[in-house]
Amino acid sequence: METVLSGIRSTGNLHLGNYFGALRNFTKMQDEYKCFFFIADYHSLTTHPDPQILHPNVKNVLTEYLAAGIDPDKATLYIQSDVPEVCELYLLLNMHAYLGELSKTTSFKDKARKNPENVNAGLLTYPTLMAADILMHNADKVPVGKDQEQHLEMTRKFARRFNNLYSVEYFKEPAAFNFGQELVKIPGLDGSGKMGKSEGNCLYLMDDPKTIEKKVKRALTDEGPKEFNAVKPDYIENLFTILNVVSTPDVVSFFDEKWNKCEIRYGDLKKQLAEDIIKVTNPIRERIIDIQNDESYLHKVTTQGAEKARESASKTLREVRQIMGFKPF
Ligand code: TRP
Repeated sequence: METVLSGIRSTGNLHLGNYFGALRNFTKMQDEYKCFFFIADYHSLTTHPDPQILHPNVKNVLTEYLAAGIDPDKATLYIQSDVPEVCELYLLLNMHAYLGELSKTTSFKDKARKNPENVNAGLLTYPTLMAADILMHNADKVPVGKDQEQHLEMTRKFARRFNNLYSVEYFKEPAAFNFGQELVKIPGLDGSGKMGKSEGNCLYLMDDPKTIEKKVKRALTDEGPKEFNAVKPDYIENLFTILNVVSTPDVVSFFDEKWNKCEIRYGDLKKQLAEDIIKVTNPIRERIIDIQNDESYLHKVTTQGAEKARESASKTLREVRQIMGFKPF
């Protein structure tokens, strides 16, 4: 069975974009693949080194993953820092990662430009830590968005280089995992292309119904179409994109028809949209609240996850050390 691995940085709550773009598919993938899902808390230190929020942030993502349907008995769900083997592999891979290639990485250049006072070595070696995450479990497939493609390409390069240097066929080159037609990019409600934390336009899984209604009501619209069958402007198309994933096809065609005949009432559209978003988010939100308060369940899940992850990680480390020439006396 092929192995799928995905990591997420713990820097805040999950939103509809995370859910429809990835999380919802993870709940299906866990039935078909050997899955590793982990929370990249070491990675979060490259930009958010705050002891007050480190743990709450990890807890948020953990509870939201569980509430959205990740099953810790099917997938291996773990916290990166619970698996110290990753640090060792990171160190070893760093010996074969070059300053030239690391400093040319787009994400590094971006962050260095935006935060010139904190250009730390962790940021520079972010791709080696990510490669260690992936290679540690010999993952075949990694579901990634556009912004992570370069990191995955570097992982392949590091794997290849390791194999060549030590004349082995040890590491696999992991491939980007395309969900096919099910990949949905959720736009913001403000007319922007993408729902994102830094864009400040998110509908969170944790938002209560009132908050969702309020946010949807504020979505950007206009006076309506002026002619039959008009092309929708982006900000209206965005509302339909979200409607498409949360509503039934007949609801979508109902509003499409209204649009085409210039009879659309945005108030009605927004009311329906909010209602159907709430249908998706509310059961998740209720589970989040339950799980959040269940410390013993969270303890059990993370302990079990760490154990399973360390089993595969320690095997890799044993083999890598041997390949590299480490030997006990
Ligand atoms: N860099 C990824 C992000 O910001 C998170 C991540 C860390 C990751 N390690 C990974 C993703 C390994 C996939 C595989 O989204």
